[in-house]
Amino acid sequence: MITKSVDRQAAGQPGSRFDFGGIAETYDRWYEPRKGRACAALEKRAVEKMLPRPAPGLRLLDVGCGTGHWSAFFGVRGFKVTGVDIAPEMVAVARKRRIADAAFRLADAHSLPFADGQFDVTAAITTLECVRDAEAVVQEMVRCTRRPGGYMMLGVLNALAALNAERKAAGAPPYAAARLFSPEEVKALLAPYGEPRVAVAAFVPRIATALSLAPLTDFAGRFLRSRRGAFIVGMVAL
Ligand SMILES: C[S@@+](CC[C@H](N)C(=O)[O-])C[C@H]1O[C@@H](n2cnc3c(N)ncnc32)[C@H](O)[C@@H]1O
Repeated sequence: MITKSVDRQAAGQPGSRFDFGGIAETYDRWYEPRKGRACAALEKRAVEKMLPRPAPGLRLLDVGCGTGHWSAFFGVRGFKVTGVDIAPEMVAVARKRRIADAAFRLADAHSLPFADGQFDVTAAITTLECVRDAEAVVQEMVRCTRRPGGYMMLGVLNALAALNAERKAAGAPPYAAARLFSPEEVKALLAPYGEPRVAVAAFVPRIATALSLAPLTDFAGRFLRSRRGAFIVGMVAL
């Protein structure tokens, strides 16, 4: 299915580094194998720890929502979610989830179709890796976030994690086209807008037979303040 995808820039749609349209129907398989499940659980735990406690009706914009995997997570936590994505096929899959109180629309994150300050929280989870200009997207997310009092959150793949670096070096899409970020780069993206909070997470064992130890290796990685977990979460209060 991956071979059906085309380079988004080559296709004349310059907002994205990779066209997820061809893999929309199968994208969620990433979350199914044990390693994917273990990683996703640890990513969610890290996001949950940083996420503001939702009050009834708080509006959250999920930028690069893909199939709605994270939109569902935010929805269950009580946010009223709007998801946007540049790939129509991804938006279609997200809509099929029928997440209560969530709406999905097609949009380029570089030019979000929302008024200033329309959302209490804006979040982009593993999206910045795939956009043409991450700095511009962050600026656009900030524009759409309520000020003062709102929050902007980023979740990205860590360039310092061996797992991610190897995937990128292997040259297979979509990793080959992705821009990976270090914890310092995430901090630098957030710093112009306030005091950044950045955490490294998802310290998953490399050996499949040791995956059941993931909660332990994750605890150890965080305790030792290692910078090499697979996932970085960052947030700024605006
Ligand atoms: C790696 S996927 C992540 C999807 C979802 N956030 C998740 O974690 O399951 C990246 C998503 O970003 C979307 N994307 C890439 N460039 C975009 C842009 N300029 N505007 C909006 N969405 C974009 C892609 O279509 C894709 O659905």
